[in-house]
Amino acid sequence: MGKDKVVLAYSGGLDTSVAIKWLMQKYSLDVITLTVDIGQGINLEEIKKKAENLGVEKAYIIDLKEEFVNDYITPAIKSNAMYEGVYPLATALSRPLIAKYLVKVAKENGAKYVAHGCTGKGNDQVRIDLGVKALAPDLEIIAPVREWNFSREEEIDYAIENNIPIPVSRKSPFSIDENLWGRSIEGGILEDPWQEPPEEIYQWTKLKKEEPSYIEITFEEGIPVELNGERKSLLQIIENLNEIVGSYGIGRIDHIENRLVGIKSREIYEAPSAIVIIKAHEALEDMVLPRELAHFKKMLEGKYAELVYYGLWFDPFREAIQAFMDKTQERVTGKVKIKLMPWSFSVVGRMSPYSLYDHGLATYDKGSTFSTESAVGFIKLFGLQNYLYALRGNQND
Ligand code: ARG
Repeated sequence: MGKDKVVLAYSGGLDTSVAIKWLMQKYSLDVITLTVDIGQGINLEEIKKKAENLGVEKAYIIDLKEEFVNDYITPAIKSNAMYEGVYPLATALSRPLIAKYLVKVAKENGAKYVAHGCTGKGNDQVRIDLGVKALAPDLEIIAPVREWNFSREEEIDYAIENNIPIPVSRKSPFSIDENLWGRSIEGGILEDPWQEPPEEIYQWTKLKKEEPSYIEITFEEGIPVELNGERKSLLQIIENLNEIVGSYGIGRIDHIENRLVGIKSREIYEAPSAIVIIKAHEALEDMVLPRELAHFKKMLEGKYAELVYYGLWFDPFREAIQAFMDKTQERVTGKVKIKLMPWSFSVVGRMSPYSLYDHGLATYDKGSTFSTESAVGFIKLFGLQNYLYALRGNQND
């Protein structure tokens, strides 16, 4: 009888490379690796070779950039998803997609297990475990790094004994996770919340331009479809904006974050596209959404971001809020103008065929169409209870 199989989410780094051998030895499994391309800018052929050299049965490399943009980033834009108001959730959004493909490849290969390289302290283990369990409750999950309790030295010794290549360059003290929507950096000196992050950790947001410039983003039903008047796929717009906006040093976030497991951690992000797109999207919504809808949507956005952060992507609660968010986007069509400056940006203009902004109503100049007589009656009725309350109180004085 053949061995059971496991599909491992493989980044090509040391932890998941060690995990390949460890799964073979400790669990006696045939290992299949899955590496997804979500714009993390890595050499996929090299990773495939590396996995094959370590004796895996198959090494899958799958380009999921389009799916990531269409099914994960797009709903996040509609929902202005920012955890704790500042983190655009790049890492969090990618985990359910990875879980989905772990399940898919496991099913295709008749594997009984899936595995990932998350540690036992973070959010990512929760996101992948919950994602897998939501889609395939019968699959078993192994998380080698959470289980093995190696110290750094023991892990390297194990790698040497098993002919696992160790990166020659001195390993960066930072833990980095990267995709189209942003770059997350933790660890090393960043663990001291008083220390300013060293410039060397930044890759996407370096100041190269001093002269301010303008960009225009056109949205249709909540989704960016043009950049500076040129029609492009959202994937292209995100890639272009990461370059353009990043070259002004815009998109850095330094945040003490509440992890799901109760730890507060210091997180640095670079997310130039995400930050500018969401700000522009909000600016357009300000113009087209009626007041009560706008206010209520803001409340739900916070909840939505929490659910994504907590790994509840496939949960009916997230899906129900998503249906609400989708409905709100029907008229989020128009154009937003943004001024880019060194280290900062502002929305400086917006227009929409569905704009509820009416110059005649808003103006303080001659020609106002607003009925100030109606205001008097409105205030009377709006304040009626307030007025009665005050009257009753005064009687007892
Ligand atoms: N704190 C962020 C989150 O939970 C980023 C996690 C980064 N993950 C990593 N493996 N470095 O979404």
